[in-house]
Amino acid sequence: RTVYVNGEYLPEEDAKISIFDRSFLMADGVYEVTSVLDGKLIDFEGHKVRLERSLNELDMQKPEAFDDLLEIHRELVRANEITDGLVYLQVSRGSAGDRDFAYPSEDVKPTLVLFTQNKPGLADSPAAKKGIKVISIEDQRWGRRDIKTVQLLYPSMGKMMAKAAGADDAWMVEDGFVTEGTSNNAYIVKGNTIITRQLSNDILHGITRAAVLRFAKEAQMTVEERSFTMEEAKEADEAFITSASTFVMPVVEMDGVPVGTGEVGSVAPRLREIYLDESR
Ligand code: PDD
Repeated sequence: RTVYVNGEYLPEEDAKISIFDRSFLMADGVYEVTSVLDGKLIDFEGHKVRLERSLNELDMQKPEAFDDLLEIHRELVRANEITDGLVYLQVSRGSAGDRDFAYPSEDVKPTLVLFTQNKPGLADSPAAKKGIKVISIEDQRWGRRDIKTVQLLYPSMGKMMAKAAGADDAWMVEDGFVTEGTSNNAYIVKGNTIITRQLSNDILHGITRAAVLRFAKEAQMTVEERSFTMEEAKEADEAFITSASTFVMPVVEMDGVPVGTGEVGSVAPRLREIYLDESR
């Protein structure tokens, strides 16, 4: 694989960052994942805008190459011959050459790393036809989930808990209400109404979420942005998740209880089709 590190395109085995990099020592870094379908970047501009917001919220400098990010994404897709896959981007506050809780001075430049992941057939994953199973777990993440930081230990634990329970993912619950999935936004469907948690610091403002809600409204569906409980979710007609890597993915089981008929319904596949058609 050809990867990008601080201005250079390199074979992955030659790519290096400091052991003092703050993303490594302090999880002081932010990231974005952009999907590629048929060689084309999906929602690139949305991811770039959110990256800028994450950097601002953390008082992190923009990498020098910020304005070249589209070009860098395209070059990596080209160099690695990605038809379907993902581009991962990470910015950290860089390395001051030692461990220190305080942020380094302004002359320490951020670290910028990008790499691709080849995922042939990303948009026709069998899970989209079958639906996925989720369990519910307590949301034990920090309070600024709107910032896309690399603090992914709790989401990783959640995926492992799901796996141990024979499920595919976990929906996280705080004060009785679902926040989101470990790496996706969560939705339920009742009749012609799509319900998903309102935006706040409690969840990531999904780029796929914004697009899907726009398409749902254009398709005359009703969108309610509000909190919901697992109890309400288990009684919904349908449920689904969205993210850059799963697009729209139906959820057919929650904590061992079938959602609706227990089969993939009609709304989630329809939204998936619209999303894939419109964004390609
Ligand atoms: N995850 N919520 C969380 C906690 C996420 O980590 C993600 C994305 C989303 C969906 O956001 P978007 O639609 O912009 O991808 C919601 C990425 C895909 C990841 O960590 O791999």
